[in-house]
Amino acid sequence: MTDLTRVEAYLEAHRTNFEEQLKDLIRIPSVSAQPAHDSDTRRAAVWVRDNLAAMGLSPELIETKGHPIVYAEWLGAPGKPTLLVYGHYDVQPPEPLEPWLSPPFEPTERNGNLYARGATDDKGQMFTHLKSAEAWLKTEGKMPVNVKFVIEGEEEVGGANLEAFLANEAGRLKCDYAVISDSSQFAPGAPAITYGLKGLAYFELILQGANRDLHSGTYGGAVANPLNALATILASLKGPDGRINLEGFYDSVRPLAEWERKQFAALAFSESAFQSDLGVKELDGESGFTTLERKWARPTCDVNGLYGGYSGPGPKTVLPSKAGAKVSFRLVPDQDPKTVLRQFREHVARVCPPGVTYEIINHHGAPGVLVSVDTPGVHAAARAILAGFGTKPVFVREGGTIPVVGLIKEKLGVDTLLLGWGQNDDNLHGPNEKFSIADFHRGIKASAHLLAELGKEQG
Ligand code: BES
Ligand code: MN
Ligand code: MN
Repeated sequence: MTDLTRVEAYLEAHRTNFEEQLKDLIRIPSVSAQPAHDSDTRRAAVWVRDNLAAMGLSPELIETKGHPIVYAEWLGAPGKPTLLVYGHYDVQPPEPLEPWLSPPFEPTERNGNLYARGATDDKGQMFTHLKSAEAWLKTEGKMPVNVKFVIEGEEEVGGANLEAFLANEAGRLKCDYAVISDSSQFAPGAPAITYGLKGLAYFELILQGANRDLHSGTYGGAVANPLNALATILASLKGPDGRINLEGFYDSVRPLAEWERKQFAALAFSESAFQSDLGVKELDGESGFTTLERKWARPTCDVNGLYGGYSGPGPKTVLPSKAGAKVSFRLVPDQDPKTVLRQFREHVARVCPPGVTYEIINHHGAPGVLVSVDTPGVHAAARAILAGFGTKPVFVREGGTIPVVGLIKEKLGVDTLLLGWGQNDDNLHGPNEKFSIADFHRGIKASAHLLAELGKEQG
């Protein structure tokens, strides 16, 4: 028996056990955004620490100003490369609860999927790397490479504490490769390596009119309405061609390479199936680009929320004193979130109607990333995916943002292997989030092979 056969036998024998462990972790409502869940979020960190300890490692809970970071390392392969595994144990709020078919924090199996908040984002995906390491350690007493685990609890709130940790601990975190499973496959049966992620610039715009809410009959026509002003500003953000109107916004946008456009076009993607699944009468976006190009490689702007005035049942004739919107821009390389903030400020200053004052809050930002596809690490990952999923990966970009990828490049000088085990319809951040149980086990197997494949490289 080779070492990999023994590792695979261990994975086979522990399938149910791994699923039960994952369900235990999922039952902890670690909603990082909600202070009411702070003790639960901490409980999830402690759970991950204890799980790493049960594998024979000596993990630490590293305190931050917010939620703790779990860190563990195994350095028993001198001369071999070091792999940094990143994941996050925090989850998005489950609300609204009404559309959930089973309670969000009671993991429930239906047609081969595990349904729960955090199932795919990111507890289930992150856990695959812990279990593959466990299989190596329990069967062989060693791993083919050195491994460092960084599992954090503020990814979903764009927390700034991780940046400080990476900057301060760059020496301890030194590595040759980094891997993150926190994205998706291209389609069922089509595993993918993601080589590009979008960045993010997220703002809140708050408008103030009169010093109190007014009767819209007695004051209307005489006093500016901040909700009307907000509508004017928001409507000015994009043109009818879907282009964003901030001055200079496209100056640093890296154009799609010709090989990429060809590669996207060659992927089996049906615009009509995509459209009918969503129940929209037409797809929408920047003209001159295909749906995959817009989703993966062109910057976008979306209003994420609006408030102000009266939105309860029935009518209320009110001229509100205050209004606000959450507005986010998804960025592509080489756009800088700080530059976009300046451009947004200039735009609002230019178009804001008179009679209202405003304030802009910068919630969070991260740059878009592109990683090289022709590296020994990517080739090793492709072989590992073939072993785990029985088919070679395709190469994709994604519209989502994983802020740590840019930080790993900046602070540690390393490109990240983005090996997503999820599916595009996993409903992450929405109701009925799910993760395929078969893909959970395939991901563990691919991760076990990744350690072996990277072990063939020099450290
Ligand atoms: N795992 C997602 C990012 C993701 C989603 C990557 C889908 C690829 C495909 C991550 O947890 C996330 O939700 N990121 C946030 C950004 C963060 C700053 C709140 C996002 O993309 O909105
Ligand atoms: Mn995630
Ligand atoms: Mn997320």
